[in-house]
Amino acid sequence: MCEGEKSGFMVRQYTFGKETGENEDGRSELVVFIPEILNSQYGTYVWPCAVVLAQYVWFHRRELTGKKILEIGAGVSLPGVVAAKCGGEVILSDSAELPQCLENCHQSCQMNGILEVPVIGLTWGNIAPDLLALPPLDIILGSDVFYEPEDFEDVLSSVYFLMQKSSQAQFWTSYQVRSTNWSIEDLLYKWDLKCTDVPLMTFDAHSPHLAGSDLPGRHTVKMMIITANNI
Ligand SMILES: C[S@@+](CC[C@H](N)C(=O)[O-])C[C@H]1O[C@@H](n2cnc3c(N)ncnc32)[C@H](O)[C@@H]1O
Repeated sequence: MCEGEKSGFMVRQYTFGKETGENEDGRSELVVFIPEILNSQYGTYVWPCAVVLAQYVWFHRRELTGKKILEIGAGVSLPGVVAAKCGGEVILSDSAELPQCLENCHQSCQMNGILEVPVIGLTWGNIAPDLLALPPLDIILGSDVFYEPEDFEDVLSSVYFLMQKSSQAQFWTSYQVRSTNWSIEDLLYKWDLKCTDVPLMTFDAHSPHLAGSDLPGRHTVKMMIITANNI
């Protein structure tokens, strides 16, 4: 899967649709290339959650054409790249305070020929001009953004704010089970949001090897959809 390797930098290939041989839309597979740097900061490589969310995006690809989609905490942006390749109008974002992560988003776009995809700095919990300028969204993507309990409320408050502009928006998010003590239940109640768990087998993600990769491996990754409580 590795195309090139130099001081921790490599380009990995992810192939969606290969295992299931899907062809209803005349498209049997999608190949994307993601530049990754291992042993660096969080947003420089694909996390186990990202292949699960990207598989969910791929599974729902026929619904994405023309949809306004924002990925938050995108890092190397595997789910967002898949969404853009499947016809979504994607915007990628990562922390405004981590320019290297924003650069990683750009590089993933470059490598997959989607230079039209905008990349913006969005720090969770900050109501900054770039957040205010966003169009109403249909889908928000977030892979492994619930990994630091002190950030949970900032993530959900940003999602809540975005849903004020577009109440039908859905937050598609995958998370890794790292502690059974962690919960977002109180925060969902506080921010008037609700959540539905999506079993992995319903979108062909119940495998330790997705998209021809060795991820998610043995990690326990779950998928959920968060919406405004009143829809
Ligand atoms: C665990 S990594 C997941 C990266 C990517 N979504 C994936 O699954 O491969 C968490 C990501 O959140 C970003 N992040 C961390 N703190 C953030 C904040 N306060 N606001 C926005 N993004 C943040 C990091 O830069 C990183 O890209």
